[in-house]
Amino acid sequence: MLFSAQFNTLCATINPNFDMRPIRIAILASGSGSNAENIFNYFSQREDIQINLIISNKAEAYVLQRAKRLGIPSLFMSKPELGDTDSVLSVFRKYSIDFVVLAGYLLRIPDGLIKTYPNRIINIHPALLPKFGGKGMYGEKVHRTVVESGERESGITIHYVNENYDEGSIVFQAKCPVLEEDTPDEVAKRVHELEYKHYPSVIDQIIRKEFGI
Ligand code: GRF
Repeated sequence: MLFSAQFNTLCATINPNFDMRPIRIAILASGSGSNAENIFNYFSQREDIQINLIISNKAEAYVLQRAKRLGIPSLFMSKPELGDTDSVLSVFRKYSIDFVVLAGYLLRIPDGLIKTYPNRIINIHPALLPKFGGKGMYGEKVHRTVVESGERESGITIHYVNENYDEGSIVFQAKCPVLEEDTPDEVAKRVHELEYKHYPSVIDQIIRKEFGI
């Protein structure tokens, strides 16, 4: 399948006056959505890359309220729907989605979707993979495990999504210290700061590289 963004690039090469449409991002999130909002703000003045859709698997997730406030189209989809490649693809096609960002999203991405969007789905993990990742390692549990393991540093990992939880190739990592007296909450706070600082610009770089813009 030729992605619409690749088609645009091809047309622009043939005809420099061709009007390129923006790369369209869907964000998938299960919780508060502070990263989703931060990413939206980063791209809000951009014409080449836009956040066009937010999907949550939790009807009551705060991210859906944020989306409404920010004027971003948003949808609740059930776990079975999100596990079904065709259901997700039909939504992505409706919104012409080119790239997918996971931001605190807790469900597995179906294999068919990964195949249809190769190197087009990325995730952020709140620790330094390959340590402290895998099924069930999310939220407070990650930071508690880091503290209990006596680690002296933690951080963030941004990686492509493949068929296994937290195992896709790593694009970017940033570290922060873990102090002896730190609680999991204090580590989480430091890690969140790294997420806000780096996730949007890393998404920007990945998209520009993948789509040649
Ligand atoms: C972040 O720490 C992210 O790394 C993890 O889930 C958290 C989501 O936070 N995967 P928020 O919903 O963006 O506030």
